[in-house]
Amino acid sequence: MRLAIFGVTGRMGLAVARLAHEDPNVEIVGGACAPSDPGHGRDIGELAGIGSIGVVTTADIASSLLGADAVIDFSTASAVASLVSVAARQRVAIVSGTTNIDDNAHRAFDKAAEAVPVLWSANMSLGIQVLSELVEQAARRLGKAFDVEVVEIHHRKKIDAPSGTAKRLAEAARKARPELTDLHARSGNVGARTNDELGLLAVRGGDVIGDHTVFLFGSGERIELTHRASNRELFAHGALVAAKYLAGKAPGRYTIADVLG
Ligand SMILES: NC(=O)c1ccc[n+]([C@@H]2O[C@H](COP(=O)([O-])OP(=O)(O)OC[C@H]3O[C@@H](n4cnc5c(N)ncnc54)[C@H](OP(=O)(O)O)[C@@H]3O)[C@@H](O)[C@H]2O)c1
Repeated sequence: MRLAIFGVTGRMGLAVARLAHEDPNVEIVGGACAPSDPGHGRDIGELAGIGSIGVVTTADIASSLLGADAVIDFSTASAVASLVSVAARQRVAIVSGTTNIDDNAHRAFDKAAEAVPVLWSANMSLGIQVLSELVEQAARRLGKAFDVEVVEIHHRKKIDAPSGTAKRLAEAARKARPELTDLHARSGNVGARTNDELGLLAVRGGDVIGDHTVFLFGSGERIELTHRASNRELFAHGALVAAKYLAGKAPGRYTIADVLG
């Protein structure tokens, strides 16, 4: 698979580059970054600490995608829509893990999916997919008698809150209990909790890769479903597996559940 990486100079982009370089079935053919990025115009391998690979970063999305079967995107919400339209035009499969994207980006994914396979996931890990399934099952089985709350912890540099994964876990609970409405970080005289709210709390500090706990509080008992990521390679690995799965597939929207089969 010939791979392009969007947001290649970021923490995740470089993790993808390192893993892709180790994989004999993957060739990195391009990588894009913001024009103002200090890594602009530099060899991707050197930035990733794996030695020169003869491919330099560019701010020109179209040229970064030349010859690629798939692009993996870990960038910023505001950059996603422009990538997606160019990738669709150039018939490059899209795997995106960028979080906090808006309706405009979601619409761009839908439009691109008419031309190429598209997978967007706020969390590329296998464990989070299974956690989502468990949350939905628990919320359905326990019903309205249990209060659902989500707490996430991430490193101090994360720029969006709550995490995309926390929102996805809330969504999983909502599949079983559609009446649940997200309530972000309570503060002040908020009154007693209602049955229909789902509290989301973001904790930030240090170098935590990503912890998510879904609480289901009943009367006299509670369940805590927790996932802890201990390195960011796991997300890069999931994205790479997804890109290999998507390359050559029919246009449309795909999910991590599809990748897992
Ligand atoms: N789905 C998952 O499993 C998963 C896992 C981890 C992280 N994430 C998400 O992935 C994203 C990136 O995370 P990260 O930790 O790697 O962040 P990061 O280190 O800040 O990397 C983001 C990269 O995107 C670049 N970028 C910004 N604007 C761009 C543009 N117009 N064109 C091309 N590149 C652009 C940034 O360049 P500058 O620094 O020059 O702006 C930076 O290199 C975040 O949304 C994060 O929440 C998802």
